[in-house]
Amino acid sequence: MSDGALVTERAGVGVTDTQAAPAVQTRTIRTTVNGEVWEKEVRINQTLLEFLRNELGLTGTKEACGTGDCGACTVLLDGEPVNSCLVLAVEAHGKRVLSIEGLAQGDELHPVQKAFVEKGAIQCGFCTPGMIMSVVALLGRNPDPTELEVREAIAGNLCRCTGYTKIVDAALAVAPGK
Ligand code: FES
Ligand code: FES
Repeated sequence: MSDGALVTERAGVGVTDTQAAPAVQTRTIRTTVNGEVWEKEVRINQTLLEFLRNELGLTGTKEACGTGDCGACTVLLDGEPVNSCLVLAVEAHGKRVLSIEGLAQGDELHPVQKAFVEKGAIQCGFCTPGMIMSVVALLGRNPDPTELEVREAIAGNLCRCTGYTKIVDAALAVAPGK
């Protein structure tokens, strides 16, 4: 049997069907990730999360549930927070993706990253990249949020460790006048 062929035995009939295995469909996408332009061929069913982690090696974005429930995989797509486990890589074509790796400037952490460290808003750290991206998105559209607005912005990000209080404190600490 040649590579890529699928052979099916029909039990009791003694007939063998040979058919070509369905080819994996791909598309070439062009997307800007953390300021860098990438042109890559991707499977049409590949998620943005898989693309970032497996194709680009950007493993700061985490996969936990894989079903849109935990927010660990949050990145910004044209400035809007998305669960990258629910977004196809092809949907990033022509768009800007910002992941946790794109926040620091050299050795200088982003103010939200600094605040998380200073306020002790990190324990195991698994939720942290997604949590930080949600806070960055919030502060991008609302630089001076209330505590309620912070809590609403991170409502889709689950944390099993911190109890959320220090995360909220960190987000509020970045806002001017706080
Ligand atoms: S891994 Fe995407 S929402 Fe949980
Ligand atoms: S710090 Fe562990 S899940 Fe949030």
